[in-house]
Formats: sequence, C-alpha cells, structure tokens
Amino acid sequence: LDYALLLAEWPDQTGPRQRILFECLRAAIRSGRLAPGARLPATRALAQELGIARNTVLYAYEQLSTEGFLEAGRAGTVVSALAGAAVNRQAAAPLRVGLSRRARGLDNLAAPANLAGAFAPGCPALDEFPLHIWRRMMDRAWRSVKSSQLNYGDAAGDMGLREAVAQHLRIARGADCDASQVFITSGTQASLDLCSQAFADAGDKVWIENPGYGGAVTAFRAAQLDVVGIAVDEQGIAPRVSDWVKYCPRLVYVTPSHQYPTGTVLTLERRLSLIAAARAAGALLIEDDYDSEFRYDGAPLSCMQGLAADAPVLYLGTFSKTMFPALRLGFIVVPRSLVTPLHGLLARSSPRGRTAEQLALAEFIHSGQFALHLRRMRRLYRERRDALVTALEKHFAGMASVHGGSAGMHLVLRLNEGEGDDTGIAAAALQAGVVLHPLSRHTTGPRTHGWNGFLMGYAQVPAEKMDGLVRKVAQCAAATRGRASNPSGH
Ligand SMILES: Cc1ncc(COP(=O)(O)O)c(C=O)c1O
Repeated sequence: LDYALLLAEWPDQTGPRQRILFECLRAAIRSGRLAPGARLPATRALAQELGIARNTVLYAYEQLSTEGFLEAGRAGTVVSALAGAAVNRQAAAPLRVGLSRRARGLDNLAAPANLAGAFAPGCPALDEFPLHIWRRMMDRAWRSVKSSQLNYGDAAGDMGLREAVAQHLRIARGADCDASQVFITSGTQASLDLCSQAFADAGDKVWIENPGYGGAVTAFRAAQLDVVGIAVDEQGIAPRVSDWVKYCPRLVYVTPSHQYPTGTVLTLERRLSLIAAARAAGALLIEDDYDSEFRYDGAPLSCMQGLAADAPVLYLGTFSKTMFPALRLGFIVVPRSLVTPLHGLLARSSPRGRTAEQLALAEFIHSGQFALHLRRMRRLYRERRDALVTALEKHFAGMASVHGGSAGMHLVLRLNEGEGDDTGIAAAALQAGVVLHPLSRHTTGPRTHGWNGFLMGYAQVPAEKMDGLVRKVAQCAAATRGRASNPSGH
C-alpha cells in the first residue's frame, strides 16, 4: 500500500496531522484496502516514509488499537480480525429498520405542511412580540441562576412559574387551583402525550370532537388509545346518552372555549352535563384551552376546570399563542387527588430542565408584562378579525358564512351547498400563495356532512392586507368552481 498516496489523497487535510493519519488508516481498514491480518509498517519506518514525526504515527496507531481496529501481533502491528469481519458483514447487510407499525398508523388526519403566512392558523403576530423585554428577562434569569440550579429541576417545573400560572388562571380563567396542581410541560403536544400515558391504557377509548384537533388524535393514537369521534354541532361537542354506554371513554378531549376548528363555544348546559357524565363514568375530561385568552365579543368565559369543585378535568394551557411557539412551554392542571401520583410518575420519567426560560417566564407574568402583551394582542387581533370578516362578507356574499370568530386567532368560513370543494379550493389558493386549511380535513373517521370550508388564521395578517388576500381566495374559489362545473373548459 502506498501510504504517502493514501495520506495525500485524504479529502480533509485540516486539523492535526495525527488525526488525519488516524482517519485515513481507519478508512482503509473499513474499506478493506487494509485487510484483516495485514501488517502495518513499523512506526519509525512509516514516519520516515511520510516525512512526519514518529509521535504522530504512534498516536494514530494507539488510537486505532484503542478502538479495536489494530492489534499487536507477533510480527508487529496488524489489522484486527474482528474489525475486518464486522466491516464485511456491515457492508453486506442493508438496514432493515423503519418506523413502528404504531407510528405508521398515525395517518396525517390534519397534518398540513407547517406553513406560515396568511391564513395559516395557530401562528401569533410574532413581529409584535416584545422581544427586547424578553431578552432582558432571559438575561436576568441566566445571571440569577446558581450552579446548583443547573442540575435536574423539580419534575413539576419551577415553583415560581407554577405559582404565576396558578394565579393567572384563577384571575383570568376562573380556575380553581393552587400551584401544587400545576405541572409545567413543553407545550400542549407534550401534555397530550403525558395525559395519554399517565391516565389511560392501550385500547382505552378516548373521545375527540369531530371535526377536531389533529395533534390530539396523533397523541392518542401513538399511545394506542381507541379514538372515537363525537360530532360537534352549533353548541359544541354533542354526545348522545347512548354514547356513554356504547363507547364508554376513559378520556374526553374538548376545546370548550373556542372549539378547534369550528370556533363554537360549548354552552354552559353542555359543560355541566359533560362534567356530571364524566364523573359518573370515571372518565377524565381534557380541557384544551389553547387560545381562550383572546376573546373579543362579550365577557370572557371561565374554564370548565373551575365550574365544579374538584371537577374531573385535566386543564391544558400553552404559551405557544400567548407568547411564541418556539418557547415550548405549557402546563397541565390536574385534580388534587392526582397531584401525588403524577408527581411520582414524572419524578421517574420526565425531562426536567429549562430553568432559565421558566424563571424568565415567571418574571414576565409577575411583572405585568404578560397581561400587557395579552391586552395589546387582543386589541390587534380584534382589529384583524374585523378586517377579515368585512372582506369575507364582501367577497363571499351569498356563497359562504363566517363562524367562530368571537375568540382565538382563527375563524371558519363555511361554504354554502354547491359552492365547491374545500380541498380543491385550498390547493388552488396555495398555488396563489395563500394558506387555507380545509375543514373537511379535520374530521375524524367518516367525513362529517356540512363541514366544507376553511380555517383562516388572521392573527399574523395585517388588517390592510385582508381585502386583497380574500379577493385572491374568492378568485381561486370561482376558478375552481368553474372547472368543476364545466370540466371540458368550454
Ligand atoms: C387545539 C390546539 N391545541 C393546542 C395547540 C398548541 O399546542 P402546542 O402547545 O403544542 O404548541 C394548538 C396549536 O395550533 C391547537 O390548535
């Protein structure tokens, strides 16, 4: 073997010489150019041949021996037999691995590409976030962190943040909780995974609103729960009495403050009857209160968790909408009787950290910045919602109706009968640079009649752009309808 050539041809000549020689010899062993049993030159000889220091060669040989590629033989240093055999076997066998059957079974119910821009739902007005204040608080948080706080933290999260969350929920959401019931998570998706693992067993039934939130379906299916879609009407989720007997659930997932995706608000009567029925069935309600901080018409509605003493509710909140999605912080509020068992489970399994983010967020809330930001965003989002509604009423008059815009960051445009198919229009709109999520894609199981239309997220769309964007959508709808009713194009 021409070692000088081998070294000269090595593609990456940066870094220490000894490292380059090591990598180049290892590659030769792996590829079989240096076969098992082959003897390498003595270190002095190789150093001379290559014109490098003997120590450099010594280092490379030593490292290769440590990793098992070389061994000391009677006649000097040889390529180890094992290295060669392993390399050959590895080369022969293609990888026979892939996603689990369970993971492959997670069909992409409502998993549209994670697109930004008008009218992608779920995205707050990121350019309005007071980044300079957040930066200051993160900076202060890091400066206050003691070295002991670099260790794994409490399984339930930072106590200061849990207190801030509990206080905020009591005042703003009418929750009935103290800090001990608050568990910090890395967002609602993580909370849903945790609830599925902690409070249900594989095969248990979990109800989800139909149409409903795809992220929840994914979490439940991943936990091998049996997902049952329960129809939503104008008053929210509408289970029949017989459903409680026929499909008796362990968990019931609901978005009562602003149903996802339809935007309806669950009536008080339905809330109370859900709580009573869940209590009787030994089920837990998962209340996903993802965007209720933004309410524009009428008084804010309290959450279900605080409606009854010791309600069977797992209350889920997220800072993805009120702060920003990349923060990845959210929380679960559990009934008092579940605090100790859940804490015990998390102490064994949860990733515990993100101290600085939690400290900064606690300060953001305690200092009043959080409430201020919410007030500003509420005003801004209302203005944007009004502009969107005005534009929709202008460009879709007689063709569609607007629903669910009283709260949150998206509303729903329902197409009248005969006004085209939402998936076709959404595809055409995407070509024109506008993101529309078809309502029909959010149904669980058989397509639910009447949910033909779009979710339209408006929080990140400036009011002055609404009219132009909606006009574009209306043109796409008209063009799609024209094609559908006159496929020959004449
Ligand atoms: C119904 C619903 N829940 C929760 C979330 C937020 O989840 P996360 O905290 O995982 O960002 C969203 C985001 O779009 C949502 O639509």
